[in-house]
Amino acid sequence: MHLFKPTILALAVISATAFTAPAFADGDGEIKYRKSVMKSIGGHMGAIVGILKSETGNKANLIVHGQGMAALSNIAGSVFPEGSDFGETEALPVIWEKPADFAKAVKMFQDAAKGMEMATQSGDMAAVGAALGKLGGACKNCHENFREKKK
Ligand code: HEC
Repeated sequence: MHLFKPTILALAVISATAFTAPAFADGDGEIKYRKSVMKSIGGHMGAIVGILKSETGNKANLIVHGQGMAALSNIAGSVFPEGSDFGETEALPVIWEKPADFAKAVKMFQDAAKGMEMATQSGDMAAVGAALGKLGGACKNCHENFREKKK
């Protein structure tokens, strides 16, 4: 009971904030969140590669990573709101200058991630390998065109 009440209160505070916060209030928060989402995408990618490389890896978990990748690809476009182009970010202004081109890069990623999800569910490791190539190509395509090059 003592734990229950503060939780309700915390939820109320969170939802009140969500409803009153102006859309572009916090570019830094948006950037941090975007990086966390990208790290999650990178985490699933590393896990898939790890399972493929390892003879003893838990192959059954591939399905979870395929689902995670597909789910994250569906929110990837939403982590680049207007106003999140300044600050500690490698996201290039061209994302907001050429939204149609950026949308294509997101779509390419979503198609590749969906392909990975289906390949992991088929259990066919050759298909997973082929899907991995496409998926890596989608990351690379977007990073090359829309992310600042590492100095
Ligand atoms: C539609 C474009 C797009 C796609 C597709 C994409 N990325 Fe990214 N990624 C970015 C951008 C832009 C940044 C820089 C974000 C920033 O600094 O705000 C980034 C940053 C990252 C980072 C660094 C996050 C950090 O902590 O700074 C990782 C890791 C990453 N991406 C992994 C991946 C992987 C793996 C894939 C493919 C499975 C992928 N990304 C697909 C655009 C994309």
